[in-house]
Amino acid sequence: MKEDVEKVVTTEEEIRQKVQEISRQLVKDYKGKDLTLIGILDGSLVVLSDLIRQLPFSMRLDTIGAATYGNSTSPKAETVLLSQLRVDVEGRDVLLIDDIIDTGKTLSKVVEDVKSCNPRTLKTCVLLNRKSRRSEEIEPDYTGFEIGDDFVVGYGLDYNNCYRNLPYIAVLKPECYTRR
Ligand code: IMP
Ligand code: MG
Repeated sequence: MKEDVEKVVTTEEEIRQKVQEISRQLVKDYKGKDLTLIGILDGSLVVLSDLIRQLPFSMRLDTIGAATYGNSTSPKAETVLLSQLRVDVEGRDVLLIDDIIDTGKTLSKVVEDVKSCNPRTLKTCVLLNRKSRRSEEIEPDYTGFEIGDDFVVGYGLDYNNCYRNLPYIAVLKPECYTRR
């Protein structure tokens, strides 16, 4: 796997510090509230598991699956939800977590779905924010790192469902992006 890496974009240490920074902010914002964290599968799994262990108060956890079919940058691409929430979020303080916001289609779709369950508050958090390709009007409330156009993998992010287990965020060698 490591031999496929062209360049490390964000190191393990940088991610660790950033996750700590975000969790400190979440502690301030959600202490004494009724937090339900919802991770968008599968990409958020790694950041979600690191983040929740930094939160010292009682909270609920759920996940929701989402997939975008077609090229996610084309207007025809459609995001569909692959699973439903199991926790009742009505009247609760909900925070959605994803690995990356790109066009914004995924987060917008999940926000729309969760809103229909009448949470008390609803905010969004992403590890990576790629602003250059946004097609939807949505900005996350909590962002780890702003990133450029390069497709990245690792720390939960995949290419063809591989590389999620790299402990850092990296760009692959060009030949790896065409291999199936
Ligand atoms: P959006 O719906 O266009 O905002 O894209 C969000 C989803 O696309 C993320 O949850 C990722 O699964 C995927 N994605 C977008 N950019 C990348 C990337 O650079 N690497 C890996 N996955 C990505
Ligand atoms: Mg994803």
